[in-house]
Amino acid sequence: MRENFGSKIGAVLAAAGSAVGLGNIWRFPIETGRGGGAAFVLIYLGCVLLLGLPVMLSEFMIGRHTRANTARAYQKLAPGSRWKWVGRLGVATGFMILSYYSVVAGWTLHYAFLSATCGFKGKGTEDYPALFSSFSSSTWLPLMWMALFILVTHRVVSRGVKGGIERWSKLLMPALFVMVAVLVGCAVSLPGAGEGLTFLLKPDFSRVDSLTVLSAMGQAFFSLSLGMGCLCTYASYFTRHTNLMGTALKVISIDTLIALMAGFIIFPAAASAHYSLSSGDIGPSLIFITLPGVFQQAFGGAPLLSWVFSTLFYLLLMVAALTSAISMHEVVTSYLSEEFSLTRRRAALLETVSCLLLGVVCSLSFGLLSDLKLAGMTVFDLFDFVASNIAMPLGGVLISLFAGWRLSRKAIMDEMTNGGTLRAPWVRTLIFLLRWIVPLIILIMVAHQLYSGL
Ligand code: PHE
Repeated sequence: MRENFGSKIGAVLAAAGSAVGLGNIWRFPIETGRGGGAAFVLIYLGCVLLLGLPVMLSEFMIGRHTRANTARAYQKLAPGSRWKWVGRLGVATGFMILSYYSVVAGWTLHYAFLSATCGFKGKGTEDYPALFSSFSSSTWLPLMWMALFILVTHRVVSRGVKGGIERWSKLLMPALFVMVAVLVGCAVSLPGAGEGLTFLLKPDFSRVDSLTVLSAMGQAFFSLSLGMGCLCTYASYFTRHTNLMGTALKVISIDTLIALMAGFIIFPAAASAHYSLSSGDIGPSLIFITLPGVFQQAFGGAPLLSWVFSTLFYLLLMVAALTSAISMHEVVTSYLSEEFSLTRRRAALLETVSCLLLGVVCSLSFGLLSDLKLAGMTVFDLFDFVASNIAMPLGGVLISLFAGWRLSRKAIMDEMTNGGTLRAPWVRTLIFLLRWIVPLIILIMVAHQLYSGL
């Protein structure tokens, strides 16, 4: 018997747990800093509603209608066609993302540990770049943290949908929310925080160009876990009573709220410590190089607060990464177990071991294997580029074309109205968006990105 989520709130929290991750707390503030603060946020919200919501609804419909892993789902709906490759692409993407995502998640574990054991004590702003590069390029320590992270993910997934994924999402998501709220409270009450708040709330459209729009779209896809079958897999565990539109709106609201709250932590804290908000200070190295210094300077007079703030922050990142990693793991585990008739435990073990092996290569690409380059990129960068810039948007195009053109109107109506019990006057608009608007916009985005990258 296939399992289901046991409660509506469990289903929402599991899907929100997938969406809320490093993408919200780490990537969103970086993109916002680059894209002119509130101007970027407004464009991002537009992308979430125009592109993210239709694709999420498609994944929900396909998953719940077929109640199968993402590869089988397409086979069931379009037997004998090539559409099954959309599902397989999702499984491969999930596998790839989990391998490099676990490396960064392992770093957050190490930094939580460093912070908790007063490892930042006596260090100044100028020491953090060296601290980070010597840690990330070393061989064993990052591997150890990465392995620990993958093993925890493995344990949760191998316990199953209700006893593992749902149970832990119900526990971790509220904990995450409390941590974010406490950190926002601390950050906005810092002296000089106002400048950071103004940056986040007052749109500056002079910094917006076509690349801003592209990165807002990419961010929406990554942050909402779209285009790789993750939400399709979770939706296959929804019951017949789950309201798909309601669930999608809740997941999107939670994801956006947490991303904005992360902005309310980082920008006030950075402004208070006199970092430049729109320049390189808020770059990809933000959380491991800039932030430890920000925490120390911002709470210069109160070492205890600085300790609490930074430890809590890295724990928060770790929890957010964990619930997302669980969802990526589940895409592959459910595929392996259902397609190759393996028990859940065996399938999970197979995914864990393969992911560990690939994760080792990704982690070493910062040190021992840093000279191993494909298309000018290290293995880590290549995986990130292929997954988030190509595979996920392409998956999004295919999913929306499939839902728009191939899924029968009856199936769509059935899923959106729960067999006629809910009203869904917007179904025609949804189909129009899925058929034309969503694929067209995403294709233009991918083409532009590849073109400008050449
Ligand atoms: N949405 C997650 C984040 O914001 C990342 C993710 C991508 C999770 C794809 C699952 C699938 O970090």
